[in-house]
Amino acid sequence: MTQTEDKSEINDTPLVPIDKIVSLCKRRGFVYPNSEIYGGVSGIYDFGPMGVELRNNIRRYWWWSMVQNHDNVLGIEGAIITHPRVWEASGHVENFVDRLVDCKKCKRRFRIDHLEPENLEQHKCPVCGGELTTEPRVFNLLMETYLGVVEGDRMKTYLRGEACQDIYLDYDNVLKSSRVQIPFGICQIGKAFRNEVTPGNFLFRQREFEQWDLQFFVHPDEMQKWFDYWKEFRYSWYMSILNHKDRIRFREHGKDELAHYAKQAYDIEYKTVLGWQEWEGIHWRQDWDLSRHSQYSGQDLSYTDPNTKERYIPWIVETSGGVDRTFLNLLLDAYEEEPDPSGKEPRTVLRLHPMLSPVKVAVLPLQKNKEELVTTAKDIHKKLQRLMVSQYDDVQNIGRRYRRQDEIGTPYCVTIDFQTLDDQTVTVRERDHMTQERIAISELPMYLLERVSWK
Ligand code: GAP
Repeated sequence: MTQTEDKSEINDTPLVPIDKIVSLCKRRGFVYPNSEIYGGVSGIYDFGPMGVELRNNIRRYWWWSMVQNHDNVLGIEGAIITHPRVWEASGHVENFVDRLVDCKKCKRRFRIDHLEPENLEQHKCPVCGGELTTEPRVFNLLMETYLGVVEGDRMKTYLRGEACQDIYLDYDNVLKSSRVQIPFGICQIGKAFRNEVTPGNFLFRQREFEQWDLQFFVHPDEMQKWFDYWKEFRYSWYMSILNHKDRIRFREHGKDELAHYAKQAYDIEYKTVLGWQEWEGIHWRQDWDLSRHSQYSGQDLSYTDPNTKERYIPWIVETSGGVDRTFLNLLLDAYEEEPDPSGKEPRTVLRLHPMLSPVKVAVLPLQKNKEELVTTAKDIHKKLQRLMVSQYDDVQNIGRRYRRQDEIGTPYCVTIDFQTLDDQTVTVRERDHMTQERIAISELPMYLLERVSWK
């Protein structure tokens, strides 16, 4: 695949403004600004009842595909705080910096790697046209913290700036405790912290966020083969959960962007109102990480092939993406306002993949004041709850209840009506096409499970 080549045909559905997603997230309990009662903290968010279900489903699907479905991939969960030497070895203390210039007129601050070349060359502010400072100021993005309580004895360290470092630290332990052989991979999902100077665009650039990483350890001769395998695998993974398959592409890093040890690097990008933006990176890390940690820790992290007895530092293919960017991109991908043919307000619907939807089924008695309908509905809800996330709702008319579920992406609504009391069947309404089917109560669990489970 060549640089910036699209993989599928273009369709022209309008891109969703981020404000619509911010508003839906607050209204329906997906995301709240952190510390809102104190005025909030820029670049830090909390996840509400719907958000936490969606995040858990997204994480579970990643873990299922990457770890459970690969015999040679294992999982870990490392600590957020590590020894400070880790960040010297990784190069973050020295190189993890943003370079900023200020506008002398409007006082806005810009990352120089985000400025257009003409603004950079002419020192011209892209917002007000004022003069930009010429010497960039350098800021390190690592968040400092201190271990210990006694002043003077406290050790300065950092909240991890990228989650993957734990994988290199635990590589040897996993190798020795799990009887794996190269090629094999280690996966982790975990929080990372960056003092981003320009956080913004909702969940896109935060100061506390979550990453998912695979570090796949290989013999140098097999690097290209595994790089190609994981690059295609990750692309297909994202394709499997997107509606707008024309909004994803690879972007190959230019020679000037590559780290000195990297032969190749690709970003998987997604197109939103912000333009094409990085979603996940596929990186050729060679032996950089294990060599550096061997050197800084004094521990030998080389591998001896049990058959050939060849000894070498394994090379690494990294796939590193963001849980929060996935969360945001999926909402942008799924959100739709559909005109109502009867001229009422449009139907807002989240067309999330059913396996990722926060609520899988809503159970709705047609009327709240008919005891038999309510009892039957509650009984069905209790049984379904053991298998999947089910919501019982009897507030307002059935149309409004369907709309509420559409807005949070619930793929199926089960309605209990008077016919149910006669023949033990219910109506199942499907979210995307609003079609309705009559199903026997006894068949309902299997009917739903088949449609909302991982495939
Ligand atoms: N270990 C490699 C690494 O950390 P990265 O490109 O800096 O690479 C990987 O980060 C992914 O983490 C990005 O593709 C993005 O999805 C996510 N990410 C990075 N910075 C982020 C931020 N400030 N807020 C939200 N997600 C972020």
